[in-house]
Amino acid sequence: MERAAAEGFDPLWQGLRDRGRLGGRQVHFLAETDSTNDVALALGRAGTRAGSLVVAESQNCGRGRLGRVWLSPSGCGIYCSLVLRPRLAPGDLAKITLAAGLGVAKAVEAVASLYPAIKWPNDLLLDGRKCGGILTEGGGFVFGQPLLVVVGIGLNVLTPQAAFPEELRQRATSLYAHSGRPVSRGSLLVAMVEAVEGEVQRLERGGFAAVLAQWRQRDAVFGKRLAWLTPEGGVVEGVALGPDDEGILHIRDDGGRVHEVLSGDLTLHQK
Ligand code: BTN
Repeated sequence: MERAAAEGFDPLWQGLRDRGRLGGRQVHFLAETDSTNDVALALGRAGTRAGSLVVAESQNCGRGRLGRVWLSPSGCGIYCSLVLRPRLAPGDLAKITLAAGLGVAKAVEAVASLYPAIKWPNDLLLDGRKCGGILTEGGGFVFGQPLLVVVGIGLNVLTPQAAFPEELRQRATSLYAHSGRPVSRGSLLVAMVEAVEGEVQRLERGGFAAVLAQWRQRDAVFGKRLAWLTPEGGVVEGVALGPDDEGILHIRDDGGRVHEVLSGDLTLHQK
């Protein structure tokens, strides 16, 4: 992919790369790696501190939900993974996923003055096109030890629309392609990390209801008709009812039956 035309001097981004620190936080800034989530999970299992951050300028095997590829060309986006050790249970992973998506959306709003909607569980959309995604992965639960969670964030920041592969061009966008304005990746990265940690801390204090209330304001599919491709390969057509108090999406099918969606893919109908 061509280098982003909008890429300019970004002192905060260069500073993070050169110093490897953000306040008291360790930043592992890699020119290239397979997947920042893999690096962060390995660091987490080796005992790295909560708050450690892995950032890559490009990824060779960036991955998304459902085994998909996350295109990660150099100079265009933010590809990062944050190591967390929240005082939460393994069953809270769905809540952490929603909290992280909300944090990233808020950071984009604060830094870029754009308002991403969120498609469950955490695709960030601008005008219906995906500009970001989040892959939350647990590092295995050891009884008596805090949960290890890695929040992997991919955000298309400076990618020109024409630089997306043709098959994605109608469905993907970047902050720059959407707004016509270049945005500092350094400022976004700092804001995202702080916002995600803030939302997860809210969960730790028992504040999922408040997280959910704000998440719902950005819900891109509530009340809309969609098709759910189930993990078993079936298709359920229905209307999205939004996530419940555990963060699990509900869909009412055309026969009136309500399904709990824990995983799988959602396709919005055009009307
Ligand atoms: C999705 O939309 O399915 C989630 C995409 C998550 C991509 C990010 S990029 C940084 C981190 N490393 C990965 O391999 N994936 C996540």
